[in-house]
Amino acid sequence: MKNVAIAGATGAVGIEFLKLMESRNFPVKKLKLLASKRSVGKELEFCGEKLIVEELTEKSFQGVDLAFFSAGKGRSKEFVQKAVDSGSLVIDNSSAFRMDPNVPLVVPEINKEMVFKHNGIIANPNCSTIQMVVALNPLHKAATIRRVVVSTYQATSGAGSKGMQELIDQTKAWVKNEPMEVKSFPAQIAFNLFPHVDIFLENGYTREEMKMVNETKKIMNSPDMKISATCVRVPILRAHSEAVWIETEDKLTAENAREILRESPGIVVKDDPVDRGYPMPWEADKTIDTFVGRIREDISHPKGLTFWVVADQLYKGAALNSLQIAEVLVSG
Ligand SMILES: NC(=O)c1ccc[n+]([C@@H]2O[C@H](COP(=O)([O-])OP(=O)(O)OC[C@H]3O[C@@H](n4cnc5c(N)ncnc54)[C@H](OP(=O)(O)O)[C@@H]3O)[C@@H](O)[C@H]2O)c1
Repeated sequence: MKNVAIAGATGAVGIEFLKLMESRNFPVKKLKLLASKRSVGKELEFCGEKLIVEELTEKSFQGVDLAFFSAGKGRSKEFVQKAVDSGSLVIDNSSAFRMDPNVPLVVPEINKEMVFKHNGIIANPNCSTIQMVVALNPLHKAATIRRVVVSTYQATSGAGSKGMQELIDQTKAWVKNEPMEVKSFPAQIAFNLFPHVDIFLENGYTREEMKMVNETKKIMNSPDMKISATCVRVPILRAHSEAVWIETEDKLTAENAREILRESPGIVVKDDPVDRGYPMPWEADKTIDTFVGRIREDISHPKGLTFWVVADQLYKGAALNSLQIAEVLVSG
């Protein structure tokens, strides 16, 4: 049993930590909920008990064994080391430490052994990256992936609870024929989409796209893998979808790939397109698996394969993956 803290407990990811810790019977002795000043005194329920949210400060981590961070990159940069210095092990959902060579970047289905090589911090990868690597890794083991091209269809909750609310508010405004307010996104998201997630970098890619490139190489320990991503925000509340194209060293047939993926942990193959048997974000909402469908051999390349991947990014892309990391630690 551990004393656990959640920094960012009131956010889109933080709330899921509470629900998942309860439903998965994660062994918690005492749970501390931390957020900004704005949320101090707010009540959140955990295992039938009402817990009061406290302000995240330098002193929050005294006596805390395990701290989940989902309060944004700035707060991770400011407080994660303070938590480690207080004796906590931190599992961080932000991008602050992901590419630090001394910090393991873990997806348990792929590199759970890295969990034990930490210096106080374990990083949870980017949400779009996690669901992609869960599907890529078994195919890579079987046929060696040389190149990946991916386009994402990312839900508004990927931008936090305010992103979700913006889609709801704009949709309501549209129904009432009122003007739509654009607050946290670069453009109107209701009845629209944009190829713009996070900021643009000098090479013309966005930071989200480069996270998919760099984090995939680190998690899969494949520095030479060629990867290109286009990340798109779509008017969906929850669960990201991805169209993935791979080129392998050895030929992989669609049937081979289906068999491999069916046997792989954390994956559900849903691939019977005639009967609408393909994964959709609506159905992936609050599910723990990564769904793969539309698996087919690429007609433009003899060693190309293409498929469609859907997962709940607040679960597998964030809170669930972090909790699975903690479960590996707890089970030793
Ligand atoms: N959303 C996703 O799909 C997803 C997936 C993977 C990783 N992540 C990462 O997880 C982190 C949280 O994302 P989210 O989507 O949960 O965001 P969110 O819904 O905006 O929640 C942010 C959380 O951080 C807290 N916070 C903000 N400013 C703070 C401050 N100055 N001091 C203390 N706490 C503060 C908020 O508290 P208040 O409620 O008091 O403002 C809230 O609990 C981010 O680093 C994000 O990149 C998100």
